[in-house]
Amino acid sequence: MPQTPQVVIFGASGDLTRRKLVPALARIAARQAGGDFSVVGVSRRPKTDEDFRRELRAFLPEEQRADFDRLAPRLHYLAGDVSDAEALAALSDRLDALPGGRGAGRLFYLSLKPELFAVAAVSLAEAGLLVMAEGEREAWRRVVIEKPFGTDLPSARRLSRDLHTVLREEQIYRIDHYLGKETVQNLLGFRFHNAIFEPLWNRHHVELVQVTVAEEIGVEPGRGAYYDATGALRDMLQNHMLQVLALVGMEPPPSLDPEAIRNQKVELLRALRFPDPSTPHEFGVRARYAAGVAGGKPVPGYREEEGVAPGSGTETYVALRAEIANWRWNGVPFLLRHGKRLPRRFTEVQVHFRTPPLQLFDRPAGVSEADLRRLQRDGSLCEIRPNVLTLAVQPREAIRLSFGVKRPGPSMSMAPAALEFDYREHFGEAPPDAYERLLLDAILGDQTLFLRADEIEASWRFADEVLAAWRGPEAPPLLEYPAGSWGPAESEALFRGCEGRWSEGR
Ligand SMILES: NC(=O)c1ccc[n+]([C@@H]2O[C@H](COP(=O)([O-])OP(=O)(O)OC[C@H]3O[C@@H](n4cnc5c(N)ncnc54)[C@H](OP(=O)(O)O)[C@@H]3O)[C@@H](O)[C@H]2O)c1
Repeated sequence: MPQTPQVVIFGASGDLTRRKLVPALARIAARQAGGDFSVVGVSRRPKTDEDFRRELRAFLPEEQRADFDRLAPRLHYLAGDVSDAEALAALSDRLDALPGGRGAGRLFYLSLKPELFAVAAVSLAEAGLLVMAEGEREAWRRVVIEKPFGTDLPSARRLSRDLHTVLREEQIYRIDHYLGKETVQNLLGFRFHNAIFEPLWNRHHVELVQVTVAEEIGVEPGRGAYYDATGALRDMLQNHMLQVLALVGMEPPPSLDPEAIRNQKVELLRALRFPDPSTPHEFGVRARYAAGVAGGKPVPGYREEEGVAPGSGTETYVALRAEIANWRWNGVPFLLRHGKRLPRRFTEVQVHFRTPPLQLFDRPAGVSEADLRRLQRDGSLCEIRPNVLTLAVQPREAIRLSFGVKRPGPSMSMAPAALEFDYREHFGEAPPDAYERLLLDAILGDQTLFLRADEIEASWRFADEVLAAWRGPEAPPLLEYPAGSWGPAESEALFRGCEGRWSEGR
């Protein structure tokens, strides 16, 4: 492992730098991981190293300051525009003078607005800062790209093409912070280490899978204009939710090699289908929040939020019924839902297993065998689905498996029960922040938790298909739901017959 890597953050005056990147680097330094790295922050406004350190320290909560103080002497600042050759020449000199000099591994983190991703990469290359021999182990050069990676398939391809003119794929680290979450990584461990679940993980035993990312907050201050141009499908579903879905549905990789895992994820994403683009209203719901109550306080509707166009047609809620057209999953619905201003913040995957072939227990009294079968066939009497595996990603990080047990007493009646595992209770500490894990992996050169160009393209292909259907004559209407509610009632209709309903977390 390189001993003195250098981390350069472009966009050092920004929100992400102070809220996520610097605390994550301070934690990495405190744990003495990642070697004795130095950090140079770059953005346009003039500041000294001292100003930079003081501003960051003042921003951090008390509990992060001790870690920050250990990192501070290795934290530097350079004022400059990323597209300015002189500024990059100054950066090059500055880096050469830091421990490790030119022989150090260098990580360039582009915490900039997306329009600058390709500009920054080209400027870095022109300044000679990206030169790296293939497979170089010491003086490596890597670039971390933030989200969003394009706004549709053509723009994502364009960005990939531009980056590939100056970087090899092995040098590009595209972040999806969901992959840095411990419970999301645990999807791999849980599925492929525990032999009891894998034989059930297919269309023979799974009836449906639902994935929810529910947010209690509305549009964040200062992000109105960005969100209004983006919407729920592009902002959350296309990237984070499809990454979770890929890990839930992918085939077992032959090894934990980054390419082996990413190959399986991309195969899964390529098999993802929007069932019938000619009748999109049957497979998707989109909506935006109206004024309502959140956290006990009245809150405005989406169109009244700062930065949002008064006539906006952007969705803040999306629910889709998707399918995976492959041998393992054909016919199993994958229900995906994301919304803002819902009653509770939670992210969760639920795998619903099929019911036993014959309902022996809890039959309704006084109904004949023939009537029971008829009622079940036409969907007016649903069997209880006792087995649901819930993988809770946030705010609680937990796994829960529900099943039925006999109720004590003379009758053969069943009651719901569950086995539960909670990360914090079990391991006695909160899992590390996602950015900490991802930054450390980027310094160590492990691309497993970063997105490859073809994964992003496969995700956009699916999202674009939905967006195109939403622009067509059969588009689902843009519904409204009161802030603080679970979204439009119409989204329950994405569940058919006895398939159940959306989870409300717990
Ligand atoms: N904030 C989040 O929570 C979050 C979450 C997920 C993804 N992201 C992504 O992370 C990236 C950064 O987001 P952010 O919220 O931190 O944005 P931000 O607060 O606007 O910060 C970006 C910073 O970049 C600097 N900058 C702008 N133009 C520059 C240039 N030509 N050369 C050098 N520096 C320049 C600006 O500082 P100066 O004015 O001093 O140059 C600014 O402070 C974006 O791609 C965003 O989509 C952010």
